[in-house]
Amino acid sequence: MTETVLVTGATSGIGAEFAELFAARGCNLVLVARAPGPLEQAAATLREKWDVDVETVAADLLDDDGLARVLARIRAAGEPAAGGPGAVRGAVTVLVNNAGYGLVKPFADNTLEDEVRHLRIHVEVPLALAHAALQSMRPRGAGTIINVASVAGFTPRGTYGAAKAAMISFSRWANLTYGREGIRVTAVCPGFVHTQFHQRMGADKASVPAALWLDAGLVVREALRDTAAGRAVSIPSLRYKALTALARVAPSSVVARLASRGR
Ligand SMILES: NC(=O)c1ccc[n+]([C@@H]2O[C@H](COP(=O)([O-])OP(=O)(O)OC[C@H]3O[C@@H](n4cnc5c(N)ncnc54)[C@H](OP(=O)(O)O)[C@@H]3O)[C@@H](O)[C@H]2O)c1
Repeated sequence: MTETVLVTGATSGIGAEFAELFAARGCNLVLVARAPGPLEQAAATLREKWDVDVETVAADLLDDDGLARVLARIRAAGEPAAGGPGAVRGAVTVLVNNAGYGLVKPFADNTLEDEVRHLRIHVEVPLALAHAALQSMRPRGAGTIINVASVAGFTPRGTYGAAKAAMISFSRWANLTYGREGIRVTAVCPGFVHTQFHQRMGADKASVPAALWLDAGLVVREALRDTAAGRAVSIPSLRYKALTALARVAPSSVVARLASRGR
């Protein structure tokens, strides 16, 4: 069966890399982001390069109407297809919850409204999309949900770390629970990755040592390997596997100081 992969935040960075690697495997795509221009450009490039079906949904996931349109696409049943009982064409079989952004200031310096929107994009929106995806994947007995979290979820790093920790914890539980029904759930936990993320939040990239930067290609290749192996948590690169193990035993004050880089 041809997979249909819905990627949020598919026009840049890690999301664009997920779209590229799934297209290279012959999967059809549903790309979601706010800006219609880059969305159509990304879709045209992927169609041309990989000869796959690419739909676009221009939607702000923080807007009720935008979220509703993406939920409706996930709930769409698709058409019956060859490939055995339950096989469908067009139904979303893989969800990549990736869209997100950072806040440069610490919690108490932001408005509460900014903090609530930040929490929504990193927790409420991916949970809403995962809920819809699980309801359509469970009757089919198959599916994959990838939640792009962060190594920040293993460290004291403000509300960003707290939100990512919530998605790591949820993914661990969901992978155990729905894995029995054929649905894999993986939290992908990258360290610093060269994307638009830090530039968009106005952060100082120079404060992060060069050795700590990863390429989005490596992050996504390792994420896909870990997802295929049924792992609930993917920490791309040996560097960050080691740093995450250290963070579990090092004093919180030291870990918090290191984790505050890149702001
Ligand atoms: N870069 C890193 O160092 C790093 C490390 C660990 C984890 N992460 C996580 O990786 C994920 C992707 O980040 P990235 O680094 O690839 O960032 P990026 O290059 O800035 O890409 C963000 C993507 O999300 C979309 N987006 C942002 N807000 C949206 C909204 N309200 N509704 C719909 N789409 C929205 C953007 O497109 P539009 O602006 O057109 O909507 C863009 O396609 C995030 O969840 C981030 O927390 C990043």
